[in-house]
Amino acid sequence: MQLGRWILPIRRKTPIRRFMMVAIALVLLLLSLTDGAFEYRASVRQMIDMRDRALARIAAGYLRALRAQDADTSKIPSSVFQEELGQVETPDLRFRVSNERGDYLGGDAHLKAPREGSRGAGLVQAEVYDDTVDGDVLRVAAVRDYLLLRTQAEPVLVQVAEPAQARVSAEYNIFWRIVRSQALRLCIVLALVWVVIEIGLSPLRSLQEEIKRRRPQDLTTVDTHRPSELVPLVKALNDLLAAQQASLDQQRKFLTDASHQLRTPIAVLRTLVQGTLFGQTPAAESMPKMLNIIDRATGLTNQLLSMAKTDQLLRRGDWRDVRLDHIARDVAVDFAPLIARKRLDFSLQATSLTLQTDPWLLGELVKNLVSNAIHHSKKGGALGIVVRELKHEAEMVVWDHGGGVSEDVLERLFEPFNVPKGSSGIGLGLSICRQIAESMNASVDLFNRIEAGEVVGVDAVVRWVRPQQPGLDTEFFHGLAAANADEPAAASAAAVGEAHGRS
Ligand SMILES: Nc1ncnc2c1ncn2[C@@H]1O[C@H](COP(=O)(O)OP(=O)(O)O)[C@@H](O)[C@H]1O
Ligand SMILES: [Mg+2]
Repeated sequence: MQLGRWILPIRRKTPIRRFMMVAIALVLLLLSLTDGAFEYRASVRQMIDMRDRALARIAAGYLRALRAQDADTSKIPSSVFQEELGQVETPDLRFRVSNERGDYLGGDAHLKAPREGSRGAGLVQAEVYDDTVDGDVLRVAAVRDYLLLRTQAEPVLVQVAEPAQARVSAEYNIFWRIVRSQALRLCIVLALVWVVIEIGLSPLRSLQEEIKRRRPQDLTTVDTHRPSELVPLVKALNDLLAAQQASLDQQRKFLTDASHQLRTPIAVLRTLVQGTLFGQTPAAESMPKMLNIIDRATGLTNQLLSMAKTDQLLRRGDWRDVRLDHIARDVAVDFAPLIARKRLDFSLQATSLTLQTDPWLLGELVKNLVSNAIHHSKKGGALGIVVRELKHEAEMVVWDHGGGVSEDVLERLFEPFNVPKGSSGIGLGLSICRQIAESMNASVDLFNRIEAGEVVGVDAVVRWVRPQQPGLDTEFFHGLAAANADEPAAASAAAVGEAHGRS
């Protein structure tokens, strides 16, 4: 793969089709080059061999012609050469005839006698060799035989020479013939490869078109009867569609629940107003009820707005380092009037802890939990916040002495609008808390707080498994409402771990 990346500039977005075409073209080019080189070598060898044999045949033919002429060896007429030349139609040929001692008898006087050991390979009767005459490179074939003359048979040597240039141009022709045939073959094979790739990629195209044709509301699954390579992709797509469908169903349910939550109090409000208007109910009796309903509707609207803002920030929040201990302190300050009004014994014990999140989101998480703790605390009761680090995690516990919750509804309290029977709550706070915690890879749970074997209140525990930047020094923030908040805070912090066996 590394090598592939080195040869071909493969990037994430390189089209598969182009990548395959380039890769296959390179492989085919390599094959064509080696194939062409071997073919060229063999063809050139064959061409040289054929031309050598042809030269030798011409020399032998010339000797036969001399014999037929019944010529005098001392004077060989040039007409014989002309005749022979006419027969082979190769005007560049040169002839020379010499006797055993190498004396010139006829033909081209410039041709030299063959050197020792210049016999051409594979030619028994003839010697074939390269020679240079007056700067021209020649290929020479020499044939020896006896020429029966009037008086006696005498050995003669016939040489036929051809310019080497003729072979160079023949090699050139061979070269271009091979280049042409290889190029043609390459083009045909690449065209076929293109067609095959197009056919191979067609299931991908049909999947693309199928998805393109869908209406945006259509979240039904995509058919998985496809080539095995596409099945994982289609399955992943189907998982995404199913998750989308689930989220849409949840949203619809939420909208229906929210509408119900608003409609009921408005209907009651209408009846109350009507009753007061027509003098059936005294205003002094109906007004506090109306106020109560309006407060509740305001609370619901505020929670809905908070939920919408949470939703928006979860997607596009201002994510940065946020000190949880500072946020907890600010929330405590915000709730100070309420705490004072209920004369609550509040304590804050926090190590410095930095988290990556949006400050508003983290504030909303703490605010919701503290608000619940205050709301469920009895007048003069104790409650507090503990931020601490354990071995592999950090946690925040918002504890109270409000009496706790029934065990069987604990987990369902995190679902929107899910409040225990008889509770006056709206039921959105904890679901907002869970959303925020999940965005920080944290968990949030409610536990019944047990002291001396009895349920005394609730521990709302947010736990970060790996705090991004654990603080080193411990800071303590003490009671806002109570003067002696120190002691209960330390004792409670210890009790938090014991009660649920979490340290
Ligand atoms: N600290 C607590 N003590 C007792 N009950 C609690 C506590 N926190 C939450 N609950 C229960 O969980 C329910 C859901 O809480 P939440 O989602 O914050 O909605 P709300 O506060 O509007 O009721 C509350 O109605 C209450 O019954
Ligand atoms: Mg609440």
